[in-house]
Amino acid sequence: MSRVRKAIIPVAGLGTRLLPATKSQPKEMLPVGRKPCVQYVVEELLVEGVEQVLFVTGPGKAAIENHFDRNKDVMELLVNSGRLDLAKEFDLQESARFYYTRQSSPSGLGDAVRYGKEFVGDDLCLVALGDSIISGTLVPGVIQRMINAFQDHGADAVVAVRLVEPSQVHRYGIVAPQDEVLTEIPFTVSRLIEKPSERDAPSRFAIAGRYLFNKKIFDAIERTVPHKGGEVQLTDAIQIMIHQGAKVLAVPLQGDEIRHDIGNFADYFKAFLRFAADDQEYGGQVRREMSTILEER
Ligand code: G1P
Repeated sequence: MSRVRKAIIPVAGLGTRLLPATKSQPKEMLPVGRKPCVQYVVEELLVEGVEQVLFVTGPGKAAIENHFDRNKDVMELLVNSGRLDLAKEFDLQESARFYYTRQSSPSGLGDAVRYGKEFVGDDLCLVALGDSIISGTLVPGVIQRMINAFQDHGADAVVAVRLVEPSQVHRYGIVAPQDEVLTEIPFTVSRLIEKPSERDAPSRFAIAGRYLFNKKIFDAIERTVPHKGGEVQLTDAIQIMIHQGAKVLAVPLQGDEIRHDIGNFADYFKAFLRFAADDQEYGGQVRREMSTILEER
């Protein structure tokens, strides 16, 4: 298994689409089933061998720092009551080191990633959005396939993508495959557009919240012109990498892999329902309740 040891998790977004739930807590801490969203993201990275995680935070995000800190009292309680599995899961610090830095103003995803420049140095780095969970049982998983693609094809950046409906392209960064007929996976990306209209979208492949970069991304971010409203888009920075001759690949989600977004209520409710319905202990009850609700409607 090839490994990438460093990852950046941007968690600075204000979460205004989830008010009032996010009035005094970060959206990344909203529970999806039993765990806060961001814990799934961290676990997904640790399974693939990541050892150092940098959170790019903003105002009101202290709960994330507290969550990944050691809580001696809770640990003792769990150990003393024989709940060792949960205690182990609690102690993520055993397997990784967490760093925190703060984006001084909400200036876009590209700007947030820029804060990781010194942390990354000359290494490779994954970027995983803190409000997107990717679930699935495929082996190798999407992050491992991204790492393999990076190494096998001498890439400079790899993005995870998934197909979305034409009416949804305006919500995502959309990538254009270099070849009209896809013969190979991963495929080479020739162009990217952030949140295009249905008419301007070059494909239905939407960026799915997972990226792998070498350090060229930081130079590209420096050169990225902010959009209206001052936001520096990561998608635009990747487009600049392509202009500069970099090789950018896309790895599609496959099989049962799903990206769960918690950035708005419609998607958050769907994510919560799925995880609750799959819960080992209570999933049966939740599914029965869902059927009852459907019958009543
Ligand atoms: C961000 C990215 C976009 C990507 C999306 C989902 O948008 O800018 O390119 O497709 O995440 O991963 P946001 O949802 O933060 O507006």
